[in-house]
Amino acid sequence: MIVELTEDQKAIRDAVREFVQETVAPRAAEIDASDQFPADLVEAAARLDLLGIVIPEEYGGAGLDHVSFALFVEEVAAESGSLAVILDVHTSVGSEPILFAGTEDQKRRYLPRMAAGSKLGAFALSEPEAGSDAASLQTTAVPDGDGWRLNGTKTFITNMGVADVYIVLARSNDHARAAGISAFIVDRDTAGLEFGAPMEKMGLHGSPTGEVIMRDAYVPGENLLGAEGDGFRIAMKALDRGRIGISAQAIGLARGAMDKAARYALERRQFGKAITDQEAIQFTIADRYTEIEAARLLTLRAAAACDAGENFTRIASMAKMFSTDVAMRATTDALQLFGGYGYIKEYPAERYFRDAKATQIYEGTNQIQRLVIARDILAGG
Ligand code: CAA
Repeated sequence: MIVELTEDQKAIRDAVREFVQETVAPRAAEIDASDQFPADLVEAAARLDLLGIVIPEEYGGAGLDHVSFALFVEEVAAESGSLAVILDVHTSVGSEPILFAGTEDQKRRYLPRMAAGSKLGAFALSEPEAGSDAASLQTTAVPDGDGWRLNGTKTFITNMGVADVYIVLARSNDHARAAGISAFIVDRDTAGLEFGAPMEKMGLHGSPTGEVIMRDAYVPGENLLGAEGDGFRIAMKALDRGRIGISAQAIGLARGAMDKAARYALERRQFGKAITDQEAIQFTIADRYTEIEAARLLTLRAAAACDAGENFTRIASMAKMFSTDVAMRATTDALQLFGGYGYIKEYPAERYFRDAKATQIYEGTNQIQRLVIARDILAGG
């Protein structure tokens, strides 16, 4: 149970905050407007060892815990939801499956370069007909010599095209649903691996999302991740970790939006006084900051449970569901506090509002989180 951060965790949070304020904040609006992948900021984050934050030092990472990871993602998201999801997906669902399910050879081949940021990661589970029902996926992996031939289309893939390493889930035997699925590490330069056009999204501009298409893509046997047929469990374990990251992203967006709105409200004068003199405005600020604090406690609790080796599936889903709903309320209220200015692009509120919406949807919709939580409770977990 986490109630207080360690000095090391505070130091990481403060170092990331400084980096974000100096380097990311001045670029956030431009990334949103241009919809261009911020490669230079990813490189800058890599120079601070943030891309391998939870990768052990023996594999070239910083060897820190998931509490530090959550603090890092929150700080980045407070200024740029786009950069936060790029780094979060790389770090959690993009890299961690290799860490917890990979062979020693796979860890040595991939993790040092992923930690250094010279290889970016992505996670390819969803398909056009298999979103919430991930176990119904139809991409196939057929044995071919010493390896596998992959065919199928993945969709809504964060870091599509810019990632060098894709954790791909595919059906590798005749068993129904989860038991028939295996995980593969697929390199970007694999013949037969293609990318769709970047999707035009409502928010999170600059974070490329789209289809990853495999047409007879050959994956060598040494890139099967975990045992054959174990892929769904690996994907779910990855998402348990990923949901901590999305929860932290949501908290950052909520805090960033409310901090800006509260500052604006202090200066905005109507009826001869600052609008913060109105009780209605004070109550909104009090309610939203209380929720942000609660969301952070839940998220750090999930991260600490992960670090302690406890079963954290339920608490990670609770954190993701709660924090992302908080983010939607906070960004909606922040926009409202800006009044008419909140609705125009010159001000940051509408960007936070658009970015926050995705957090209720990806890495498992909040309806799926409720299903995970209720199943775990009812099973006596
Ligand atoms: N950890 C380990 N194993 C797990 C697990 C977990 N958290 N959750 C389930 N499993 C195991 C189960 O124990 C079971 O194993 P056995 O068959 O050996 O008992 C197996 O996986 C199947 O589990 P279920 O029967 O519970 O599976 P289900 O079909 O009923 O569905 C689900 C479970 C929770 C609904 C799952 O499909 C799910 O999480 N859906 C949402 C998918 C999702 O989050 N997609 C996001 C994609 S990533 C993304 O958003 C893009 C991005 O890049 C940001």
